[in-house]
Amino acid sequence: MDIIVPAEWEALRERLLHGPPWRTLMVAGPVNAGKTTLARWLAEQLQEQARTLFLDADPGQSLIGPPTTLALSALPLHPDRWLNLRFVGHISPEGHLLQMLSGLVRLVEAARRHRAQRLIIDLPGHMANEAGRELFFQMLDVVRPDYVVALQRDAELEPVLRCFRRSRRPRIVRLSVAEAVQARDRWTRSDYRRERFRHYFAGARVRRLSVHARGLHGMVPVLDNPEAVRHRLVALCDRHGFARVLGIVTRYDADLQWLYLWAPPFQAREIATIQFGRFRLDPAELGAERQWRRVPARTASPRTDASES
Ligand SMILES: Nc1ncnc2c1ncn2[C@@H]1O[C@H](COP(=O)(O)OP(=O)(O)OP(=O)(O)O)[C@@H](O)[C@H]1O
Ligand SMILES: [Mg+2]
Repeated sequence: MDIIVPAEWEALRERLLHGPPWRTLMVAGPVNAGKTTLARWLAEQLQEQARTLFLDADPGQSLIGPPTTLALSALPLHPDRWLNLRFVGHISPEGHLLQMLSGLVRLVEAARRHRAQRLIIDLPGHMANEAGRELFFQMLDVVRPDYVVALQRDAELEPVLRCFRRSRRPRIVRLSVAEAVQARDRWTRSDYRRERFRHYFAGARVRRLSVHARGLHGMVPVLDNPEAVRHRLVALCDRHGFARVLGIVTRYDADLQWLYLWAPPFQAREIATIQFGRFRLDPAELGAERQWRRVPARTASPRTDASES
C-alpha cells in the first residue's frame, strides 16, 4: 500500500531517531485516524537504528493475528506471525477492560524478554465514553510509555492527556489526522474481521480437549448449559497465559469433561488454561459447515485429549 507521509510524521521520525533516548511509544486516537498506518510506518522507519517490536493492541481491526487478540510481533510484520498472543475475549475492549489492560501489560513485559530496544504500540480506536477514557488513562498510567502520539480531529483525547500534564512521562506528541486517511464504515470493518477469522480458522476442524485438570478463566459460562457454551470463542493458553490457539466451542460433554471445539491444530500438553470471552462466532458463517458437524466419537478415556492432530 502506498502511504502519503505528512511532514509532521517526518519530523516525529527525526525526533525519535535523534532526540532523547526512549523505549516505548503508543499511538492513540479515535477510530479511522490513521493510527495503525502511522504505528507501522514508525516501526519500519526505526528498525534499522534499534531492535523494534510492534504491539498490535487492537482486538477489533487486528493487523496481526485473529480479531479478539493482542499480538506482539517482530518486523517485518506479517498477519500470521507473532511472538506472543493474548486473548481479550471480544472484538471491542468494552466489557473486557481487565483483559485488555492485563494483555497489554503482559505483552509489554514480553517485549522486554524479547530484547526489544523500541516498542511501538498501536491502540484500538479511543472510545469516547467513560469506559474508553478510563481504559486509556489506565493504559497510559500502567505502561507509562516514553511517548504517546495523539492523533486527533477534535481534541478527543485531551480529557485523559490532561491528567499527565504534570508528569515527565509520557511525552505527548499531538498530530492531526492525515488527509489521506480513508474512513472505513462498520460493514467494511465487519467484513475485514470475518475475513481475518476465516483465514485463521482455514485449517480448523473439530477437536476435543479435556477440561479435567485445566483451569478455566475469563467469562466462564455454565458449561452444562449447551446454549451458554455453543459458539463461544475461547483461547487455549499456555502456562504463561499466552494464547496458543483460538477455538470455537461446539459443545461440552459433562460426563467425560470434554470440550469440543473447532480449532486449528494444537498440542494439548501445552495447554494449561482455557480462557472464555463473551464473543460468539458461528463456524458455519466462516464457510465450515460440513467440517464442523463431524464430531469425533466418544471412544477415548475421560482423561485423554484427542486434540492433537
Ligand atoms: N498516510 C496515509 N496515506 C495513505 N493512506 C492512509 C494513510 N493513513 C491512513 N491511510 C488509510 O486510511 C485507512 C485507515 O487507516 P488506519 O487503519 O491506519 O486507521 P486507524 O486509526 O488505525 O483505524 P482503526 O480505528 O480502524 O484502527 C486505511 O485504509 C489506510 O490505508
Ligand atoms: Mg487501527
